Amino acid sequence: MKSSRERRRGQPGSRDAGALAGSCTDRAEPGAAEAFPSHLSRRAGALPAERLPVILEVLPNDDYALIDSGDGEKLERYGPLRIVRPEGQAIWRRALPESEWRKADAVFTGDTDEEGMGRWRFPRAPLGETWPMRHDGIDYLGRFTSFRHVGVFPEQATHWDHMAMLIRDAKRPVKVLNLFGYTGLASLVAARAGAEVTHVDASRKAIGWARENQEMARLADRPIRWICEDAMKFAEREERRGSRYDIVLFDPPAYGRGPKGEVWQLFEDLPRLAELCRAILTPRPLAVVLTAYSIRASFFAIHALMRDTFAGMGGRVESGELVIREEAAGRALSTSLFSRWLAA
Ligand SMILES: C[S@@+](CC[C@H](N)C(=O)[O-])C[C@H]1O[C@@H](n2cnc3c(N)ncnc32)[C@H](O)[C@@H]1O
Repeated sequence: MKSSRERRRGQPGSRDAGALAGSCTDRAEPGAAEAFPSHLSRRAGALPAERLPVILEVLPNDDYALIDSGDGEKLERYGPLRIVRPEGQAIWRRALPESEWRKADAVFTGDTDEEGMGRWRFPRAPLGETWPMRHDGIDYLGRFTSFRHVGVFPEQATHWDHMAMLIRDAKRPVKVLNLFGYTGLASLVAARAGAEVTHVDASRKAIGWARENQEMARLADRPIRWICEDAMKFAEREERRGSRYDIVLFDPPAYGRGPKGEVWQLFEDLPRLAELCRAILTPRPLAVVLTAYSIRASFFAIHALMRDTFAGMGGRVESGELVIREEAAGRALSTSLFSRWLAA
């Protein structure tokens, strides 16, 4: 019998993931029967402790800064470049004068709807598709993409730092699975901290960019498996094969597609993927970190899901928002919701 995800194939696409998803069929294995149960009842075990709300902030730094925001836009500094993009949440007024905003090197002039293709304009000098960027000493490439994204989500940096600390403090071999890994920054941070990393993304293009970043970061000798596959299918297979991980990161879009047209819809698919993430943990796991963005839900929703999912495992679930603190007037720009289960 076909899974509900396979039956949903062919629905209209949207968002970034749809744009990135290529026809990458390498590494994927023929589908086997679904062994992992589809309908799971609520667990009986004691719920993990909880901490919320937790607001994780990224402050302006040498690599990245949210310089100013307002009037539906944001002005950011990505390494050497100043970039202006639409920002629906910036319903306040800009703090800096127009002359500062006019110094931008790149302006995204697209539909403010994230699904629009839009286009980039370079007011000062023509720019190529990529430019050198750095995160905490890790070199990589920023890139202008058709979906107004720039090849990195800087708000994730607090998750990366926390994960690196867990890996180093473990003082033993640590295996990390990065689902929906995009251009691979989290995978590079984990590999530099000493972990063995498996990175999964549906887009051949994104996997190519992530590999380029590994070269740029001079981490080519680190053990990172780059896998172009549907995140759910990959997790199901790892569960069947008995492959296990100490840390799982999953940062799914609201809507996306696997390389074979598999449909990802967060509200329908998240509970099952969260269960799979639990099922593929080692006997001494460290953490499972979920980020969600562009969805009509509060962090209370993913908090409840994560607590129920990790019932009986001990530890605690922390949930809240990832925000970026603005340089000009100190306002906080919320970017996403997160919920993470921590073993200790
Ligand atoms: C927002 S990005 C993740 C950002 C990343 N965690 C980071 O911090 O850089 C979402 C990614 O999910 C991928 N994606 C979308 N649908 C997918 C699916 N069904 N299976 C695997 N990856 C998928 C997209 O190709 C895209 O790279």
